[in-house]
Amino acid sequence: MSIDIEIPPMFNKHLLGIEGMTREQLELILELTDRFAEIGKRPIPKVPALRGRTVASVFFEDSTRTRLSFESAARRLSADTLTFSAGSSSLSKGESLRDTVEVISSYGADVLIVRHNMAGTPKRVSEWTQASVVNAGDGCHEHPTQALLDCYTLKQQRGSLDGMSIGIVGDIRHSRVARSNVLAFTSLGAKVTLIAPQTLLPDFMENWPVDVSNVFDDVIADLDACYLLRMQSERQSKGLVPSLREYAKDFGLNARRSLFLRKDALILHPGPTNQGVEITAEVTTDERSIILDQVTNGVSLRMAVLFMLLSPHESTQMDEVK
Ligand code: NCD
Repeated sequence: MSIDIEIPPMFNKHLLGIEGMTREQLELILELTDRFAEIGKRPIPKVPALRGRTVASVFFEDSTRTRLSFESAARRLSADTLTFSAGSSSLSKGESLRDTVEVISSYGADVLIVRHNMAGTPKRVSEWTQASVVNAGDGCHEHPTQALLDCYTLKQQRGSLDGMSIGIVGDIRHSRVARSNVLAFTSLGAKVTLIAPQTLLPDFMENWPVDVSNVFDDVIADLDACYLLRMQSERQSKGLVPSLREYAKDFGLNARRSLFLRKDALILHPGPTNQGVEITAEVTTDERSIILDQVTNGVSLRMAVLFMLLSPHESTQMDEVK
């Protein structure tokens, strides 16, 4: 069976953030993801679409899901992969970020998947290479492919995000996932409530189209979806909550609190979870949890992103996807 979809020439060379993307663009990626999800269900989930292309993962920060799913997506599209890890590289010998990027580019990489603890690094990298760049998480700024896979997962469950009430709970201040998701969820028509102690909310939220609550129990019963975030301790300079125990008591989703969540509500988490803090083990496996669907969909979504960035745009038919 051939998949017949035309990619309009409206996509940029890079995917640096959800900011600046139109609803139409977001919807097109989600639609394309559906086609790639179908490939994932085949006995041999591999197509020759990106044969001869090279995908380099360039991670200056730890990752399990994002890196593995990008690499698996690249392999399913028959692309070659290059893997760079900051810890075992010549960075430790004083090589600069720019030199590192130039070396990786000169090995023929067509796309660099970049994760870095400094906001704006993927954008800088895009100025130093001919390759496409995908932001796989930059500091507290954005994590666009996580937001896209979350939208896809919600849409898969409910058909549409229009009118959905989504609560994002936890360390919003330091979360690139929250920022990308606020932009993506609201652009697709959802109503977003940020739920956190005041110390874990960003200072500048005036332009964010969201409601805010400092009391999880006040709003939990209104949610169609509850998106929990990890406490990003690695980005916090000082203790912003009295203790993790206190935080878990007021903002953690445990079995007792989950009784107040509607029976048809959905529970999401980008991973990695800190069980016993923002979520308990039993809630992770609650029948309302779609955390594992998020992981599975991450591969199909990233196949769609790689395909869109690397296949020639004009009148691209997915002939190779058979
Ligand atoms: C997130 C990240 O790295 O920003 N994880 C992910 O990509 N799946 C969230 C986190 O680290 O808590």
